[in-house]
Amino acid sequence: MSTHRRSLYFNYALSVCIALLGLLAASSLSPDPVVNGTVGESVLLPAGLSQPARITGVQWIFGKDVIADEENINGITAQFRNRVHLNRNDCSLTITQLRAEDSGGYHRAIETADSQLPTLMITLHVYEKISAEMERKPSNETCRATLLCTTNQTKHVSYRWKRGDQDLPEYAGMLEVSLSPGERGVIFTCVASNPVSEAAASIRESCEESSGGVSVCALKAALLSLGLVLMISAVIGVHVRECTHTQKEHLRRHRETCETKEAESGF
Ligand SMILES: *[C@@H]1O[C@H](CO)[C@@H](O)[C@H](O)[C@H]1NC(C)=O
Ligand SMILES: *[C@@H]1O[C@H](CO)[C@@H](O)[C@H](O)[C@H]1NC(C)=O
Repeated sequence: MSTHRRSLYFNYALSVCIALLGLLAASSLSPDPVVNGTVGESVLLPAGLSQPARITGVQWIFGKDVIADEENINGITAQFRNRVHLNRNDCSLTITQLRAEDSGGYHRAIETADSQLPTLMITLHVYEKISAEMERKPSNETCRATLLCTTNQTKHVSYRWKRGDQDLPEYAGMLEVSLSPGERGVIFTCVASNPVSEAAASIRESCEESSGGVSVCALKAALLSLGLVLMISAVIGVHVRECTHTQKEHLRRHRETCETKEAESGF
């Protein structure tokens, strides 16, 4: 077996040139040579076998190290031990609990009973899951502000912006916003994304009426209270007049009665 392994490895070194030709020939069958993974999650590197073959040896190589083979399916090097699994049925490699340092080139070498298959090369990019926050910088002008979309990453980030449900044609990490007087509760959202994830952050912006002039609201309130005062005084006025009128009438009647009685008793 060890002589077989040595020959496999030797063949691997030789096969790099042949593999380039092989890859070209098999390019329509080979999987996407770039695979994106997320830190902490798993990824599957396909072996790209187009047809069944009697496989006598398989190796997955990262950089210069063999990280898994048919005898060590759960990893060889310290970086990958117990984080990789060589799937015996299709020779694909599963990597779990991805780390940023797992990014790089992976080679798959397969030997069959009668030949060495072209080496497959896959580039793995491991990205951090993105998170986003909104930061607001007030402007010295009223109803304007600068919104900053901040993320936990520095590279491979793209941005989109929305005002309410509407997409804005802005693709930077910063947005200058300007509202008209009286606009309230306008929600601005930034959506930050990287090749493996997306995150959104929002902020609510309002533009109060300018404090210099009399606001419509205050004017309405003033008119309403003035109307109320006029109405109440009118009601009170009418009531008072009615009261005095009834009182006078009452007095007049009383006087008349007395006069009559006096007249009666006079006779
Ligand atoms: C507002 O700030 C800008 C720079 O951000 C400055 O050019 C401008 O003069 C300032 N305006 C006022 C009214 O202070
Ligand atoms: C991987 O990320 C790159 C950007 O770095 C992108 O162009 C490509 O489409 C992604 N591939 C997959 C399979 O998501």
